Amino acid sequence: MLSPKLEEALNQQINAELYSAYLYFSMATYLSSIDLAGCAHWMHAQTQEELLHSSKMYEYVNERGGRVVLNAIKAPKTQWASPLEVFEDAYRHEQHVTSLINSLMELAISEKDHATQIFLQWFVSEQVEEEASANGVVQRMKLAQASPGGLFMIDKELSTRPVPFVLATANKA
Ligand code: FEO
Repeated sequence: MLSPKLEEALNQQINAELYSAYLYFSMATYLSSIDLAGCAHWMHAQTQEELLHSSKMYEYVNERGGRVVLNAIKAPKTQWASPLEVFEDAYRHEQHVTSLINSLMELAISEKDHATQIFLQWFVSEQVEEEASANGVVQRMKLAQASPGGLFMIDKELSTRPVPFVLATANKA
């Protein structure tokens, strides 16, 4: 059984993961509106990743006999000054999510909940990847600013990001 404190904190994290999905979906719509289809595709795939993260937590809370309670998701930002600003925001957001996961881990340690610590280890590793992939795009976009056609090349590259299973299924339906 989860402690009430951990149950509440995991519920808050489900909300944070859903907000991440909403934020990235908003970024995808902006990127699509400025005709960067590859960047929009990358961000749409990221949206699906976040939905998978929230589902993982939902299943875990249920498995441990807890109750998932869904709360309002705050509205995301809808406008950016440039594609670089979008990816800088995404990188900053991932750094924030890392701090949330670390706080959750600290709570699981103080509650002496070993199963939740093991469950959260996946998210700790995932955050390393999440930060690296967003920051990788930021750095490539900065380099591209100096070369004509650089953004076009990045857009093409980002269009090849494999889509998570949920999105692949939805596109076939
Ligand atoms: Fe669910 Fe991008 O971290």
